[in-house]
Amino acid sequence: MKRLLFLALTALLFGLFVLAMWQDTHREWTHEQHRFLKTLEPHERRGLSGGIKQVIISELHRVDRCTTCHLAIDRPQLALAEQPFTAHPGKFLEWHPVEQFGCTVCHGGQGLATDVAAAHGDVPDWEEPLLRGPLVQASCRQCHGNLETIEAFAPQLVKGRRLFLAKGCYGCHAIKDFGQMVSQDLTEVGSKSYQLIEADFEMMAPPHDRIRWFMRKLKNPRMLNPGVRPEQLPPGEEEVYPSAMPNFGLSDDEIQALSVYLLSLTVSNPPASYVTPAHPEPTPIFTSLIEQGKAVFEKNGCAACHGIEGRGGRRNWNAGLRGEVPPLVSVKAYYGNEVESLKSLIRYGRQPIPRADPTRPRPSLYMPAWKGRISEEELDALVAYLFSLSEHLEPPPASPAPIVENAPPLKEN
Ligand code: HEC
Ligand code: HEC
Ligand code: HEC
Ligand code: HEC
Ligand code: HEC
Repeated sequence: MKRLLFLALTALLFGLFVLAMWQDTHREWTHEQHRFLKTLEPHERRGLSGGIKQVIISELHRVDRCTTCHLAIDRPQLALAEQPFTAHPGKFLEWHPVEQFGCTVCHGGQGLATDVAAAHGDVPDWEEPLLRGPLVQASCRQCHGNLETIEAFAPQLVKGRRLFLAKGCYGCHAIKDFGQMVSQDLTEVGSKSYQLIEADFEMMAPPHDRIRWFMRKLKNPRMLNPGVRPEQLPPGEEEVYPSAMPNFGLSDDEIQALSVYLLSLTVSNPPASYVTPAHPEPTPIFTSLIEQGKAVFEKNGCAACHGIEGRGGRRNWNAGLRGEVPPLVSVKAYYGNEVESLKSLIRYGRQPIPRADPTRPRPSLYMPAWKGRISEEELDALVAYLFSLSEHLEPPPASPAPIVENAPPLKEN
């Protein structure tokens, strides 16, 4: 009896062993490699062989096996083969040799994996999906200090950064040590853990990743944060206002560019030999104090709350008479003779903002303090610009996109 059991177990073990061997030689990649290698002429095959390929880049703490399938990635003469056997587009691998850079530092994905879905990061709980097409540009910022110098190869990234400035995102968000903290610091939002985004993911159709999350947020911030209206609540509980982030009415292309830029906001510190440091941007030359003040207004994101050229229109529930951040076109009329109190208001901000209706929650937006962020010299220029705004009342708004406020209005006063 014992002997029979022993024999059965041995047979089982042998069976498992054979199965393991079979699986090992019949992995997806071996099959693909053989198929590809067979199609090549002998001279083309020179230097190419089967088996797992890997690049170990200890300085970047990476082991990439992508070339197991992307076998001919650095062989432009094979560019006509089909994926995964094409050659890499452009000169990227000449500038960033495979032995020194690997692939995942630019493309994300899972370096060690050897089946397609896992390598491309299409598996649950892997938070670095493969970056394809223009999304790859999100990687360049970790090493290239001056993005303008690589603009031709990373146009979406550079465009996204310009939009971030132009739309006034810095008025509410900080990146490193620039910008306000009215809302989240975005320094590392490009690697924000999926766990922290879970609540938002639950409101989105899959697949769930950061890029789709950014796009959704930028398309309409209130979609993911619609607030809780008083009539949805038992009596006595406080309503929650929808997202205080404005809907900027962005085009799809602008949304993509901004999302690539947001995705690039990560803190990775590649060793110095991998980094081309930023040289300081040239100081702009202004022809007038007003022009200088305009630049101060724009770079600090005042328009995010006060509207383009201070024309107002930005929702701030339960604030003031109209439930909006005040426009700045009448600053001269109010503060023309009180420049010092205007400066002091800008230096120290104003918080909290009084409620128009005392039974409802506080307005979400307040006037932040700018002391230490705006120098005294810049402040003089800013005041000159604010005083000039009343002259701009006519003609009506020209170019910039209108502010879209398309969420249903809450109970207004
Ligand atoms: C097991 C084989 C295999 C491995 C390993 C693999 N790939 Fe792929 N890759 C493929 C195949 C097959 C395609 C074509 C189908 C597709 O686009 O998903 C492809 C396509 C791609 C594309 C092009 C997508 C497009 O839009 O044209 C990129 C980029 C890419 N892989 C990068 C990587 C990176 C980076 C790694 C390493 C982390 C990797 N791959 C590892 C098989 C593989
Ligand atoms: C310096 C960053 C960088 C590195 C390193 C890099 N790539 Fe790319 N890769 C890019 C860019 C940029 C594109 C172009 C995307 C676009 O515009 O379509 C691209 C495109 C691709 C494509 C798509 C080709 C096509 O025809 O659409 C594949 C496949 C690919 N890379 C694979 C790899 C593999 C495999 C490695 C590692 C051997 C690698 N890349 C290393 C930046 C990089
Ligand atoms: C891991 C760091 C790293 C990443 C990521 C990276 N690069 Fe580079 N890149 C370098 C280094 C280092 C050089 C060589 C710089 C030199 O020779 O001065 C370089 C060179 C270049 C060059 C050639 C510049 C020249 O000397 O003319 C271009 C263009 C370029 N990179 C574009 C890109 C783009 C576009 C991306 C994103 C898709 C990217 N790089 C991602 C580190 C990186
Ligand atoms: C008037 C203030 C304001 C401005 C201006 C603003 N945001 Fe926001 N943003 C918020 C608030 C408040 C949140 C918090 C989540 C919510 O309510 O939607 C937020 C959340 C975010 C998040 C999610 C951050 C996280 O970690 O959860 C991103 C990304 C973001 N904003 C990007 C932008 C971009 C890009 C711009 C410029 C186009 C911008 N924001 C302009 C107020 C603002
Ligand atoms: C996060 C939103 C936000 C940003 C960014 C912001 N402000 Fe304000 N600001 C407010 C709010 C809200 C008020 C209304 C304060 C009150 O009710 O007393 C205000 C009030 C003001 C006032 C007084 C207006 C009046 O009619 O009394 C001035 C002037 C002003 N801001 C200038 C600026 C300047 C200049 C910047 C950029 C450096 C700026 N603000 C950025 C929200 C903002």
